[in-house]
Amino acid sequence: MQFLKRTVTCGELREKDAGRTVVLNGWIARNRDLGGVIFIDLRDRYGITQVVVEPEHRPDLAEFVRSLTVESVIAVRGTVRLRSNPNPKLPTGLIEVVADEVQLLNPSKVPPFEISDTVELGEEIRLRYRYLDLRRPKMQRNLLIRHRAYQVAHRYFDAHNFVEIETPMLTRSTPEGARDYLVPSRIHKGKFYALPQSPQLFKQLLMVAGYDRYMQIVKCFRDEDLRADRQPEFTQLDLEMSFVTREDVMHISEGFIRQLWKEIHDLDIPAPFPVLRYREALERYGTDKPDLRYELPIVTITDMMQNVEFRVFAQIAQSGGVIAGLVAPGCASYSRKQLDELTELVKRYGAKGLAWFKVQETTLQSPIAKFFSEAQLQQLRDQLQASPGDLILIVADQYPTAYEALGALRQEIARRTGILEQVAGQFQFLWVVDFPLLEWDTEEQRYVALHHPFTAPHPEDLSLLDSDPLKVRSLAYDLVLNGYEIAGGSIRIHQQELQQKIFRLLGISEQEAEEKFGFLLEAFQYGAPPHGGIAFGFDRLVMLLTGASSIRDVIAFPKTTSALSLMDHAPAPVSPQQLEELHIQVRSKNGSSD
Ligand code: AMO
Ligand code: AMP
Repeated sequence: MQFLKRTVTCGELREKDAGRTVVLNGWIARNRDLGGVIFIDLRDRYGITQVVVEPEHRPDLAEFVRSLTVESVIAVRGTVRLRSNPNPKLPTGLIEVVADEVQLLNPSKVPPFEISDTVELGEEIRLRYRYLDLRRPKMQRNLLIRHRAYQVAHRYFDAHNFVEIETPMLTRSTPEGARDYLVPSRIHKGKFYALPQSPQLFKQLLMVAGYDRYMQIVKCFRDEDLRADRQPEFTQLDLEMSFVTREDVMHISEGFIRQLWKEIHDLDIPAPFPVLRYREALERYGTDKPDLRYELPIVTITDMMQNVEFRVFAQIAQSGGVIAGLVAPGCASYSRKQLDELTELVKRYGAKGLAWFKVQETTLQSPIAKFFSEAQLQQLRDQLQASPGDLILIVADQYPTAYEALGALRQEIARRTGILEQVAGQFQFLWVVDFPLLEWDTEEQRYVALHHPFTAPHPEDLSLLDSDPLKVRSLAYDLVLNGYEIAGGSIRIHQQELQQKIFRLLGISEQEAEEKFGFLLEAFQYGAPPHGGIAFGFDRLVMLLTGASSIRDVIAFPKTTSALSLMDHAPAPVSPQQLEELHIQVRSKNGSSD
């Protein structure tokens, strides 16, 4: 079909264009008949232009245009003129195009929802008709910001001597802690590739190969329980550098963040970013990814509870547990029901209970106040710096459960008191460092790496590797923004013996290490430079950059929280021949073959 090709986009006409003859192509966002005169809002990704058809001049054209449905694709030829009622909200709001020819390029069925930012839509229908959802201005804005973030990354890292290198998608399993997505091999019966959970081993090998600085914007795959900030396939901005300390990696990362926020928001993010030790973060904010846009600190009061009459507290204080609390500002008026809800919350985080004190002018009111002397109550109030009208909330439990429960409570209090709303639009970055190298997995009864097995132990703690492994800190670092972990990395082990020692600690046998990472251990024998790196969760970064509430809003075609694609219906069954070729047999639930 021959069509009238556009000479301008729907976002570019201004006052100075009055009098020009132009052709527009786009989608009908609105089609209104106002007492005979027809107004069309014509939309493309650049904007909206008002098109007018005046029946007194062109009755035939008016008749035709009136019949066009919304979301149909049309071409309009006409003359630009100044509007008698300008629309200050639109960049093109001073002009309109008086049509003298309209071509229907493709009609649209009535869409299942209105293409607009103001309608409330369920996620299911949005994902089912993703191409219509993506036509909405807000989603277009999100993906365009994402596009600009890619460009900033390429420019910034190129300017800092990083080399972009692609690593394979069909690989062996890398241990990032999630389950692998597997791809069966047709040629090698019974063997499987794993889709990468990250390019970790390859980027380290690129350092051995001498590339010095590597970057890649790369898809990673993790079969794990999904949440609003997790997807089974997601994107990392992945970096690795040779001859660096952790401060070097942090510095380069800060520079990138600052450039990104400057270019997208014209904001100057102050640097260096604050640095918190893991232990401080946990004890003050109850999490290793605190939202520092507000303070609401957790205060540890174990010492003062050693000798109180309240048995629960005294016992926990004396048996090496933790008693800590926080102040909910202005919440002394909370009802029984509200207090019960808060108790339920801490219980979900493993705490056994929640104690509360309502702060009054002279006293503290609480069902357990009778177990405390006046002096003890005063001390409690002073240590927590509570004022009349506040609510003191206390959890007594083991480390780190008590802190984790209070961390969840801290967020909930920020939400309930409107603090979160007040800080919306602010960006508070911080680094968390000095993570423990290992944690004890009670289910598997062995140590597991908190970050991954290639992370270097803190040099000051090397001697503890044998005597007290859980006390060993690592050279890992996380970058946190507004309560989200947006990047994680570490200085790596680059000596073969130390790497083997860590594998042994993790209960990975020599044979298993050889089988899974033999190539890495071998490479370490051929001149591996000291190296380290980091990976940004690109989707999370863009989510926070755009103010979206889920990473699904910054990914063009995401999966649901149950890892489904509602549009193309992946995952889907495959034909018996395909299974046959892949040497795969699918069993039904009761164990028999299908
Ligand atoms: P890590 O596992 O911390 O480190 O991942 C880096 C960052 O990726 C993001 N991320 C995710 N985003 C969306 N969906 C997911 N399922 C998901 N999982 C992780 C997070 C996280 O901070 N190889 C190391 C990096 C390194 O050591 O250099 C790694 O992958 O924002
Ligand atoms: P109980 O003695 O179990 O009836 O508890 C009395 C009060 O202390 C209740 O308000 C409980 O929620 C609270 N409480 C019980 N256990 C804990 C705990 N581990 N930490 C904080 N408060 C607790």
